[in-house]
Amino acid sequence: MNMRSISLAIVGVLAASPTFAQGDVNVYTYRETKLVEPLFAAFTKETGIKVNVISASSGLEQRIRTEGANSPADVLLTVDISRLEDATQNGITAPLNSKVVEQTVPAAYRDPEGHWAAVAMRARIVYASKERVKQTAMTYEELADPKWKGKICIRSGQHMYNNALFAAMITKHGEAKAEEWLKGLKANLAQKPSGGDRETARDIAAGKCDIGIANTYYWALMNDKEEQRKPWAEATKVILPSFQGGGTHVNVSGVALVKTAPNKANAMKFIEWMVSPQAQQMHADLTYEYPMRAGVPINKTIASYGELKRDPMPLAQIAANRKKASEMVDKVGFDN
Ligand SMILES: [Fe+2]
Repeated sequence: MNMRSISLAIVGVLAASPTFAQGDVNVYTYRETKLVEPLFAAFTKETGIKVNVISASSGLEQRIRTEGANSPADVLLTVDISRLEDATQNGITAPLNSKVVEQTVPAAYRDPEGHWAAVAMRARIVYASKERVKQTAMTYEELADPKWKGKICIRSGQHMYNNALFAAMITKHGEAKAEEWLKGLKANLAQKPSGGDRETARDIAAGKCDIGIANTYYWALMNDKEEQRKPWAEATKVILPSFQGGGTHVNVSGVALVKTAPNKANAMKFIEWMVSPQAQQMHADLTYEYPMRAGVPINKTIASYGELKRDPMPLAQIAANRKKASEMVDKVGFDN
């Protein structure tokens, strides 16, 4: 998806009627509608509450802020800590104050002030050539080791997925060490950062690089598509790296309650339903994410990567270094 696109897709009932019925819940989302629609349908079936969706690839926080007190928005549903933090810092959210959420979602994956909570997790990991890479474990720090010179593929350092990983590196080791690491990683790149996460698997398969950095769910998605499984997924294996003395870097899909929500009670029902056993199982199997709720089985393709040992660093602490990470990417000329 083109994150910079400002096109706004209005789907579902909104296309037919510009006004929102009361008693519905209005969800503004950055998620691909075809991925999340089954979730919305299941929620409606369970509760009788209709979900109206506004879907866009950027600008939803600004839109909600501009709409102000008249905004129909009840819930913001998005991927990535950067989006959840942006919404919170834009002042458009309110604390969830939900016992259900607090009991289901570990504190590291919630805003300390309660303004957002994760509904699912994804990890930022390594895809490696089955043929050329013998290693089955590695650290993130090791990605800067000269032994990988000319062997690593990655998308833009400014993409939010990498921004969070680099911010985590700053949080772990401090700015100076993180910058040294980022320079080392840049020195190891096989090519200019480009494409998306699937393209790292494509380029590994084509022999352009030996390892690439990507999210957990893309490998499962490639595996589902005949035309991507054979050439890309089957040429690669998945390694769950870990920070030295830590665990694997995870990011989240999450929700926030809009401060001006006209249907607040329904919004809270929706948010709490998103962490219910049923919704959590749907997340595991539809979007190939890790469920937040303990005891919900992980999808079997994702489980085949091995046990995820999550880095314990709270996401809010990582998010605090987003700006520094972005500046560092420019400073070292990572994308040049
Ligand atoms: Fe993605």
